[in-house]
Amino acid sequence: MGLAAYVHPGPERCGTHMSDEIRMEHWPKEKPALYSLLRQQLAALMEGETHPLPNLANASALLWQALENINWVGFYLNTGKEELLLGPFQGKTACIRIPFEKGVCGAAARERCTQLVYDVHRFPGHIACDSASNSELVVPLVKADRLLGVLDIDSPSIGRFDEEDKGGLEALAALLAEGCDWNRWQMGS
Ligand code: SME
Repeated sequence: MGLAAYVHPGPERCGTHMSDEIRMEHWPKEKPALYSLLRQQLAALMEGETHPLPNLANASALLWQALENINWVGFYLNTGKEELLLGPFQGKTACIRIPFEKGVCGAAARERCTQLVYDVHRFPGHIACDSASNSELVVPLVKADRLLGVLDIDSPSIGRFDEEDKGGLEALAALLAEGCDWNRWQMGS
């Protein structure tokens, strides 16, 4: 079966839930193929929709289904006050506000640079929302020099994420940043 067979059928077939058609055992094991498929899937899910809220919600659900060995995935959004606010996510309940000066998420927002953390216990200021987390990848979402927020993924395994994950998730974050109309969602305060 070719990759195209896995692409989400799109809004016209929303009555058929994606998880009915795409079961975990069908996700590619090789990261290049996995992230290529995820880019197709996310683009299909976003087709005809530019509002950030449903697109981030579906993106977090898609990554939760597709990525192995993670315990949290979701978004923190820039309030415009040097602070991040919890957005759509999958996993256990999480801290709501993160100042830019704190945590892995704050570092990604402050530096506008992906944070690939091999062992969170060795990252100064790491915020342990879930004590099960041992490694983390945080990717900033930036459009036209505007920091929109960050994509945060946690794993219970030390060293879960590598450069292939970083590249793959940066491409997905770019798709979200570019494909949404961020003026449709006032995120302040
Ligand atoms: N660990 C993050 C906080 C968010 S939770 O992982 C969901 C950090 O240090 O910024």
